[in-house]
Amino acid sequence: MTTAEPMAWPSALSDRRAKREPFDWYRRMHEAGGIRYDDERNCWDVFSYDAVTSVLTDAETYSSVTAPEDNRGGLPSMLSADPPEHTKLREPVEEYFQPGAVRPLAPEIRETTESLLDEADAETGGDRLDVVDDLAWPLPIHTIAALLGVPADDRAQFKAWSDAVVAGPQLTDGDRLGLETQRQDAALSLADYFAEVCAERREDPQDDLVSKVLVETDLSDMEVLGLFRLLLIAGNVTTTNLITNTLWCLDDAGLVEEVRKARHSGGTAERLDDAIEEALRYRSPVQRTVRRATRETELLGRTIEPDDRLSVWLGAANRDPERFDDPDAFDLDRSPNPHVAFGRGIHVCLGAPLARLEARVALDALLERYVSIDRVDADPDPVASPFIYGVQEFPVAVERAP
Ligand code: HEM
Repeated sequence: MTTAEPMAWPSALSDRRAKREPFDWYRRMHEAGGIRYDDERNCWDVFSYDAVTSVLTDAETYSSVTAPEDNRGGLPSMLSADPPEHTKLREPVEEYFQPGAVRPLAPEIRETTESLLDEADAETGGDRLDVVDDLAWPLPIHTIAALLGVPADDRAQFKAWSDAVVAGPQLTDGDRLGLETQRQDAALSLADYFAEVCAERREDPQDDLVSKVLVETDLSDMEVLGLFRLLLIAGNVTTTNLITNTLWCLDDAGLVEEVRKARHSGGTAERLDDAIEEALRYRSPVQRTVRRATRETELLGRTIEPDDRLSVWLGAANRDPERFDDPDAFDLDRSPNPHVAFGRGIHVCLGAPLARLEARVALDALLERYVSIDRVDADPDPVASPFIYGVQEFPVAVERAP
């Protein structure tokens, strides 16, 4: 039997340009009916907005248990669980991620942003920076570390582990065995790290998420470890790319100035929020997710067999002309904007309020500090992951406000 590889790259996206700009392919796939079966990867590709949302909101027919147990580092993860296990893992921690619960982190996120930009300015004299390296990468790691109560000193190690877990074959020249080993090693190292932190917090609880989850919920040690590992992985490179992709969209559309000027007329938060929502739709930081059919069913007139794998293209659903007028235009006035960048249904992103908050604080600080921000490299490499979407570098020339 051949194995299904829903997360492998379809041949249409094999070169770097297509990975960075998959939107022509999405357009053709919409025109061709919004769904196809890929004989090379042995899986379905689902593009249509309606079909993507039907799959995501029917967890009974489309399971999130898609990978063998040992791909998860031996720890439970809500992301790859179905009810009732999913409910058991998600419900007790939902309250810690509500907008009101994460909002108090704003001053700390702002402070971290300022100090990261200070460092970059000190290094370059304040006329250029790499938005990814200098800000968008380190900030989410600091933030998650702050939320969890884990020392930010360990952030370089977090980055290495989480990069390894989301990496695509590019990192090891297509050496699949090497890649899997690297992934599992990273997952195990993260687990060991958190096991130590948990032991310390059980002894001596602090006012942080690790201590709260340990004290206030009934989750087992393994479940708690699985949660922390998931938060680091799910909340880190995704947010990096939301920050960079928003600036990328604004720069391409020539709208950086408009959003900055709105700050002075008192409307910055709204305009910036519009930009972030539209960037989530236009260059979605997570382009796809995976499901497994649990029974025979129909989707857009095609018969899906039990155990079939589906690659669910969120980034394509967000460009579906049946759902969005002029989908390939970046439009700050798009309203409503019912994108699926954070997923839908029971697995809808737990960290969405935190991701939006970080992007807003980081971009607002950038717009305040610099009177001009101009992109330098027009041909950056795409991120080396089959589902996370963005660029590896985003160098800009900047001019500091007087
Ligand atoms: C722009 C940034 C982010 C994007 C685009 C994003 C996207 C997503 C998507 C699409 C899903 C659903 C996957 C599926 O249905 O298979 C998801 C789930 C999840 N995300 Fe995010 N995410 C982001 C940031 C974060 C942050 C900051 C955190 C945590 C602090 C986080 C934690 C989670 C968790 C725990 C899940 C699993 C929820 C469940 O299975 O019930 N994410 N995210």
